[in-house]
This record gives sequence, C-alpha cells and structure tokens, in this order.
Amino acid sequence: MMTLPMAAATAFFFLALLVAVSTVLAAIVEHTFVVRQMHMQHLCKDTLVTVVNGQFPGPAVEATEGDTVVVHVINQSPYGITIHWHGVKQRLTCWADGAGMITQCPIQPNTAFTYRFTVAGQEGTLWWHAHVASLRATLHGILIIRPKSGSYPFQKPHMDVPIIIGEWWQKDLTEVEKGYLNSNDNDPAAAAINGKLGDLYNCSGVVENSYVLEVERGKTYMLRLVNAALFSEYYYKVAGHRFTVVGVDANYVKPYDTDVLAIAPGETMDVLMVADAPPCRYNMVALSIQAPAPDPQIQTFVSRGLVRYKNVAVNRTRVCSEQALTPKMPDRHDTATTFFFHGNLTGSLPPGHQSLLRQVRDRVDERLFITLGQGSICKGGNQEGSCKRGGSNESMLVAYMNNVSFHLSEKTVSLLEARWHRRNTTTINVTVEELPGRPARVFNFTDLALIPLIPGGKGEELEPTRKATTVRRFAHNATVEVVFQSTAALQSDSNPMHVHGHDFFVLAQGKGNYDAARDVGRYNLVDPPMKNTVQVPRLGWAAIRFVADNPGMWFMHCHFEYHIATGMATVFQVDDGPTLDTTLPPPPLDLPKCSHIKE
Ligand code: C2O
Repeated sequence: MMTLPMAAATAFFFLALLVAVSTVLAAIVEHTFVVRQMHMQHLCKDTLVTVVNGQFPGPAVEATEGDTVVVHVINQSPYGITIHWHGVKQRLTCWADGAGMITQCPIQPNTAFTYRFTVAGQEGTLWWHAHVASLRATLHGILIIRPKSGSYPFQKPHMDVPIIIGEWWQKDLTEVEKGYLNSNDNDPAAAAINGKLGDLYNCSGVVENSYVLEVERGKTYMLRLVNAALFSEYYYKVAGHRFTVVGVDANYVKPYDTDVLAIAPGETMDVLMVADAPPCRYNMVALSIQAPAPDPQIQTFVSRGLVRYKNVAVNRTRVCSEQALTPKMPDRHDTATTFFFHGNLTGSLPPGHQSLLRQVRDRVDERLFITLGQGSICKGGNQEGSCKRGGSNESMLVAYMNNVSFHLSEKTVSLLEARWHRRNTTTINVTVEELPGRPARVFNFTDLALIPLIPGGKGEELEPTRKATTVRRFAHNATVEVVFQSTAALQSDSNPMHVHGHDFFVLAQGKGNYDAARDVGRYNLVDPPMKNTVQVPRLGWAAIRFVADNPGMWFMHCHFEYHIATGMATVFQVDDGPTLDTTLPPPPLDLPKCSHIKE
C-alpha cells in the first residue's frame, strides 16, 4: 500500500511528466463552428446575417506554432459554405484549404466537414473566412499563432488585442455577389472595428456602440490587425500613440516605427503599442481609402473606437480634455502613405527561411508578368465576338489577369479533385487553360486616359477580354517570380494579391510601368518581407518570388471582393515532388461531394 505522501509524490511525478510531455508534443486545438443565420440590429435595421456560433466577428482560433488545428464545421445555413484558413501554409494539406470549387465542393446545408491542418513554420496573426461568394463579410475570425515557449523576438507584450476591420452589410450578400456583374449599387452600410460600427454612426439619434480597449499605463499591447473588409484598404491610427510593426501575414519584420498603419483586404499585421500617453481617452480610427476620380467613387467608411486608460487620475480634468483626442487621418485619396508604408517593411527571417531566400536569390525557373485591370466581355454567349463596348449594355465589365477573366464553369467537382482523379486515371475532364505569362499586348499600362469607361474612350480597344478557368502549372520546387502590374484599364485601383498555400518574398514595388532593365536592380534580395498578400500599388507594380514546394491547386487572386468575383484570379498548380513527404496525400473521407447540389 502507498502512504499518503508517497501517493502525492507519485501523483506529482506524473503531473510533472505530463507537463514535460505536453511542452514537447504539439497540442490539438479543436473547435466546432456552427454556421447559422441570425438577426442583428444596426442603424435602425434588422438584418439577417450568416455567422459562426452566433458571433460577429466569429470565434478566435488560438494556437501555438506546431499545433494541429481541427475545426468541425456544421452547416445549418441555407448556403453552401467553405472555410479558408487565410495564410496558413497548409503543407501537404491542400484538401483543407477551403477554397470553394478549387480545393473542395462547398459544405452543403445540413451537412458537416472537419478541417485538419497544422500551423507550422509561421507565427503571428492570420485569419479564417468563408470562401464562397461574398459570405466572408460576416463569416470570418482571427487565427493567432503564438511562438512555442512564448519566445517572441521582442519583449513579450502584456496582452493581445485583436483589431478586426470589417464592414457592416445590410444587403443580402448572395445578391450582392450577383450584382457585381450587373454593376448595381453594392456598397456596405458601414465600417466596423471588431463588429462595432462606432459612435460616428447613428440612426434617429441612436448612436452605435464603439469598440473600447482598456489599457494600463506603461504596458505594451500587441494589436493584431486583420482587414476582413470586402472592398477597401484602410488607414488605422490611435490618437496620441505610436506603433511598432513587428509582423505581417504571420512573418516577423524588422521593427518599424510609425503613427499610421495601412492595411489592405487580406493583410494582417502584428503591431506593438505602448500605453505611454497621459491617462485619458483616445480615439482609434479606421478610414477607408480609395483611388481618386475619375475612378468611380463610393462613400467613405469610418469606424471609430476608443482607447481608455484604467485608473484615470482623480483630477483628470487637469490633464485630459473633455473630449477624447482624435487622430488626424490621411486623406481618403492619399495613396502615397500606403505606398511608403508597405515599401518600408523589411523582413526579419527565422533561421529556416535563409535557405529559401538563397534559393529565390540564385535561381528563377518561371517568370510571369501579370497585368491587373478591367476589360469587357460580350453578353449572351458571344464571348469572343464583336459587340459594342465603352459601357454599352451589349458588353459587361469584368476584372482580369492578362486579359483573361477567371471563371469556373465546372459545377460537379473541384479542381483539386479533378486533378487527383486524373492522376488516378478515373477520367474527370475539366477544361482548363494555361494562364498567359504575359499580357496579349504591351501598352502604356498606367496611362490615366484609360480610366474613363465611355463610348470611344481611349481604353475601348483594350477592353476585349475572355473568360476561362486558367491554371499555371509549376514543377515541384520551381522558383517562381511574378511581377504584378496594376493598370489604369477602366479603373486605377490598387490590387491586394493573395496566394494560397505559399508565402512569398516581396522583392520590390514601384510606381508607373515595370521596366525589368531598370527595376531588377532595385530588388531587395537581402531582407525582403515575407507575405501571403501583396498590396500592388495603384498605377504601379510589385515583384514577388516564391518556391512552389507545396503540391496542390492553389487559388491566387485579388482580395477585393469585386475583383475576385469578376475574375481577377487564377490557380497555381504545384506538382508533387519525388518522395512520399513531398506528395499530396489522398482526400479526407468526409470531403463534401458536389453531387448533393440541387440545381
Ligand atoms: Cu483570404 Cu482566397 O483568400
């Protein structure tokens, strides 16, 4: 028989063993996401929204680097749903990438699917969102990957503070999606910070709630920003405070000091903010940015929140003003501030990435030059044919890459399944085309005279565009360089380009037309930032490089919803490698089937 102290000692020993083992072994982070419709009231209006677990934004997924994430998605909404883990590298788990009709058929109403993947080799802030139609406007949440044993390359922050910039939509999002191609009025009703519209919005005198962050003087806060908006890039400031950017897209950057952040849809950012101001109240502001006219103008969206110090001094009136301090924001048409902000970031690479950098520095196997713009296709099946353009209703506007507008005609099988079955010789034919590696013709891409969409406008002869399911195939381990050129073709927006399944180095960005002879010399091959979304500047370009080492079918697209919905997208097909651990395993058994779809 064991004596009491002996039993206690034994118990303690096993407890200690358990702790020791769990710090070595990666954990499983498990969630159940119930997707359901719910009524929410904002701006005097009751709106039916589709959300996860009754929350907007949805639940946070918090993991430690190396963990396995398991999410059971139970779909009780009337829509087919997928969940994409934006920025997760998904090494050998392309099946869990959640890109609708690219990697899986949507999870049909009243069915379920479990996503399983690991979060390895990346630390910081990412996010998850639905990847079907525009439903991601309300189906999204943050995904935080903390370093093992809390070892940040900077002093450990006192607290994590998610700052999710989103939009509040009062329109039916599935209708909004259809409206893009008919160019209806399709704007959100408001901007939001963490689901709160903020006190600048009111309806019949009822002021909307603001997101409030309580801080303690002297402490350092880690703001984890996500831009989950469908439409706009945002500037973000907190009055009286400065920021140190330490990470972007779950990759560390050299600490960068600034008082303004610029964040495009799809981007995420880790930012330290020291609460070092007099203990008062300070407004935080998120302001939408847009290209100036003659680009079509939409309303400006501003969401305001509050930073409030705890234990405010008794005689606060002597230190603090009556009103909370408000930051002075850049102009909403200011595209220079975001250009410099993004251009100033440099990477701080963890050891494992040095060899990647060497690989992209020493060898380029594939070079793509991709123009991003808008063109038109003829309506009514007359795709290649001639029709009136320049805004005529014989044609309709689409977005493109190299004058091909991405379009999925296949409704019965995802591209990844089609590829998988082809490899296993059951024939499933999906007609795909190779994405052209250069534009069909060279013109002055950034000529402002191309913007106006008018009969006889300068851009009219450049409009003709095709629809196709484009794919670009890469051999396993190929080093790929892509130069994205934002054009002035019928609009002059910036373009936040996102690649699934791979992070890439951003080597350079510039204004005007890319010129290899001049611009290759400006590439940063020493400490480029690593990202999954690059904000390609308005009327400018950006050059990225990555190693195509993760087999699968990976969506690559602009993260402006209007652009993705109208075709500024393609798929990178990455081949299997020679070994088992470089080969995509078979699909999970519960992968949804499209045959459930009733048309
Ligand atoms: Cu967040 Cu395909 O993207």
